[in-house]
Amino acid sequence: MKNSTAGTTISTSTTIAMLPLLPSLLLCLLSLLYFLLARAKKQRSSATTATPRKLPLPPGSMGWPYIGETFQLYSSNPNTFFALKHKKYGPVFKTHILGCPCVMVSSPEAARFVLVTQAHLFKPTYPASKERMLGTKAIFFQQGDYHARLRRIVLRAFLPDAIRRRVAGIEAVALQALHSWDGRMINTFQEMKTYAFNVALLSIFGKDEISYIEELKQCYYTLEKGYNSMPINLPGTLFHKAMKARKQLGHIVAKILSSRRQKKAVADDLLGFFMESKEALTDDQIVDNIVGVIFAARDTTASVLTWIVKYLGENPSILQAVTEEQEEITRSKEKGGGEVSLTWADTKRMSMTSRVIQETMRVASILSFTFREVVEDVEYEGYLIPKGWKVLPLFRNIHHSPDNFTDPEKFDPSRFEVAPKPNTFMPFGNGTHSCPGNELAKLEMLVLLHHLTTKYRWSMSGSESGIQFGPFALPLNGLPMRFCRKT
Ligand code: HEM
Repeated sequence: MKNSTAGTTISTSTTIAMLPLLPSLLLCLLSLLYFLLARAKKQRSSATTATPRKLPLPPGSMGWPYIGETFQLYSSNPNTFFALKHKKYGPVFKTHILGCPCVMVSSPEAARFVLVTQAHLFKPTYPASKERMLGTKAIFFQQGDYHARLRRIVLRAFLPDAIRRRVAGIEAVALQALHSWDGRMINTFQEMKTYAFNVALLSIFGKDEISYIEELKQCYYTLEKGYNSMPINLPGTLFHKAMKARKQLGHIVAKILSSRRQKKAVADDLLGFFMESKEALTDDQIVDNIVGVIFAARDTTASVLTWIVKYLGENPSILQAVTEEQEEITRSKEKGGGEVSLTWADTKRMSMTSRVIQETMRVASILSFTFREVVEDVEYEGYLIPKGWKVLPLFRNIHHSPDNFTDPEKFDPSRFEVAPKPNTFMPFGNGTHSCPGNELAKLEMLVLLHHLTTKYRWSMSGSESGIQFGPFALPLNGLPMRFCRKT
């Protein structure tokens, strides 16, 4: 009570003391109002008149103020949202999600415009918290010269000439993984993640950094847990733990760098290429890109492998054809009396298996879309895409359009006996930011499938069907499965 009286007294005297300031305060408020109105007007005009002609925005709806259509997108399978919109408005439509005005594009031509021919007008964009977590200097977030420098190095490590030397190493990782699953009920996605992680680490650090690898893995698991959490950096939150783990990952890579420098070691792995590069990268830049490549390499490849196991399980005749192709490779190697382990040349004789991989990537389209942000007002087919808007090329819609693939919902690897129409098949993206790890991803999938189909059989734990997004499209619950060695 006493306090409240004192409070009133203070506020009354403060009000009196502020009376002479009232005109200035009013002036400030009016200036602020004027500034806000002017900014709103400028934004409106930049959306309609910054280009020489007045152009309309693409068709579509923007939903509620601020919220936009975020709930409609996330309340069901996002692909249903995209498909309905495409049906209603055509291949280029506007919407508003997660606080951002967006244009979604679902024709091969529009996706090519954004990702390839006019790529300089569309910069990659990620939430700031994700950029901080992966490392702001990582390849995904860059454009221009620095991006080109990074890409040259990453490609050097993952083009066929470099990865053909890795077949034996990858095969050892695959055999070890399969052996550990034998007779057990496993979560297929989790196990595929471990496999893809080990292959990625082999390509990044070679075989020599074993002493650091366990610690590195533990940090990465903590980082992963916080990656999709609310970005609240307070002690105890998943995000905070992830940021700490990210820092620790930086220290581990720094230790590996310094140990290599001391030994004056020259290595033909990604880290070695980063270190010896004439492009002169700082240690921070190297660390961000090592973490970035691990991130890009693991869940993507693991999701595709999980879908392959599911589709092969559901299509016995296709599984049979893949198994026969792989058994024939084993037989011919035994007959030749040469090397029993797989070689790069063997992986080039796996055409049926390769078509299964392609068809899985089309049907599952694990990355339904990607994000870009428009750097200046752009005109596309008579529509204006205003500066600052997000643009989402919808890979999945393109892969599931009957204009591009007949009977698109059917799992039919034979469709890839004929090359798809240009720009209609983009599981690895397209243009300047397309996936530099695609050859490694295909190689590690082929190697695993060789041993899986020739040596193991598998059965699903129940009649699980359905998709979950985490954020990649995945069979429900990561596809619980029992794998047993053939007798
Ligand atoms: C089946 C597995 C994979 C799929 C489906 C996949 C898909 C993609 C896609 C669609 C993009 C382009 C994203 C965009 O344009 O915004 C991309 C970029 C990238 N991927 Fe992959 N990826 C896979 C495996 C890998 C592997 C194994 C590695 C590394 C060894 C890797 C490294 C990268 C990197 C570094 C980028 C960024 C390239 C840049 O910004 O220039 N990916 N990936």
